[in-house]
Amino acid sequence: MAKGLDVGTMNIVCSEMEGDNVVFVQQRNAFLELDYSDLTRMMLDNAKVQYIVRGDKIYVLGDDALKFATVFKKSVRRPMKSGILSPEEKEALPIIKLILERVLGSPNGEEVVCISSPATPIDSDIEPTYHRKTLEALVKKLGYKPFTIDEGLAVIYSELADNSFTGIGISFGAGLTNVTVAYFAAPIVSFSIARGGDWIDENTAKATGMSKEQVCAIKESRFELKYEVELGSVEGALAIYYDYLLTYVIENLRRKLAEVSPPQVEFPIVLAGGTAKPRGFKEAFEEKVSKVGLPVEISTIRMARDPIFSVARGCLIAAKTKES
Ligand SMILES: Nc1ncnc2c1ncn2[C@@H]1O[C@H](COP(=O)(O)OP(=O)(O)OP(=O)(O)O)[C@@H](O)[C@H]1O
Ligand SMILES: [Mg+2]
Repeated sequence: MAKGLDVGTMNIVCSEMEGDNVVFVQQRNAFLELDYSDLTRMMLDNAKVQYIVRGDKIYVLGDDALKFATVFKKSVRRPMKSGILSPEEKEALPIIKLILERVLGSPNGEEVVCISSPATPIDSDIEPTYHRKTLEALVKKLGYKPFTIDEGLAVIYSELADNSFTGIGISFGAGLTNVTVAYFAAPIVSFSIARGGDWIDENTAKATGMSKEQVCAIKESRFELKYEVELGSVEGALAIYYDYLLTYVIENLRRKLAEVSPPQVEFPIVLAGGTAKPRGFKEAFEEKVSKVGLPVEISTIRMARDPIFSVARGCLIAAKTKES
């Protein structure tokens, strides 16, 4: 059976069919490193937490890492940064490998896996080939037959079947924003921008003197994109950086579209990714598009059914298509 795999800077999501339904397994792309002691091990066993022991360290993975970070008064670490395997994290590879083993499990015979891959950023020197090839190799080692597609194209596969996979898919993630414009499932423009939720958190934290973690918690729990925000508040700073991000994404989309000769058809736009979740995001995006203007006709702008799972669902559709 085919599987979809979205390896993101914050979330790793695996998708597969169960009868007629798509089911998702999600894990935070994070880990906690603890010094080995019998007491720590006993505590984790009692809490029924899965962990691994390597040398004199214990590693707690995924969602459990976040849960136990406060208990052990340690910060979680992330194997990925800005959409790719973090060059600054020496444990990145073994940790990702373990998380992948957990979410994918073992294959049943010949199973195709479609993995999402970031497109090359237009505004940083990040080169995603190493990341993409490494993930393919890890998934192959688990016994699967992997291939990759751009993250923006995955959004189109997931949400635009009713428009023959013609349209614009945008995934607003943690490390990157990925954009693809496709015509009958063939990408005509595909790029990423090295800004996303992490960039919003970091800059809001700098502006307000709060920690990134505090900012992120407020952003995810109660932030809405409204017209009126209190000046000097965290919400005010978040709104400024959201506005900045939207302008930047749409201006770059306009620029990239102007470099090609897009077919004279109407393009729907679908918005996905965790950063697109705040209430009012779609309206803010619509307003920006009409202000900036795009060199193609836009038929509709809509939210993905489930912004965080959209890429994994699209990967599953691509994998099923390839398998059949
Ligand atoms: N309700 C919410 N409101 C605002 N932001 C949110 C919400 N839920 C999640 N996020 C943000 O969405 C981002 C994670 O989204 P997503 O899972 O799409 O990213 P990712 O795929 O892991 O990252 P990338 O694609 O950039 O590698 C984080 O920055 C997170 O803080
Ligand atoms: Mg993503």
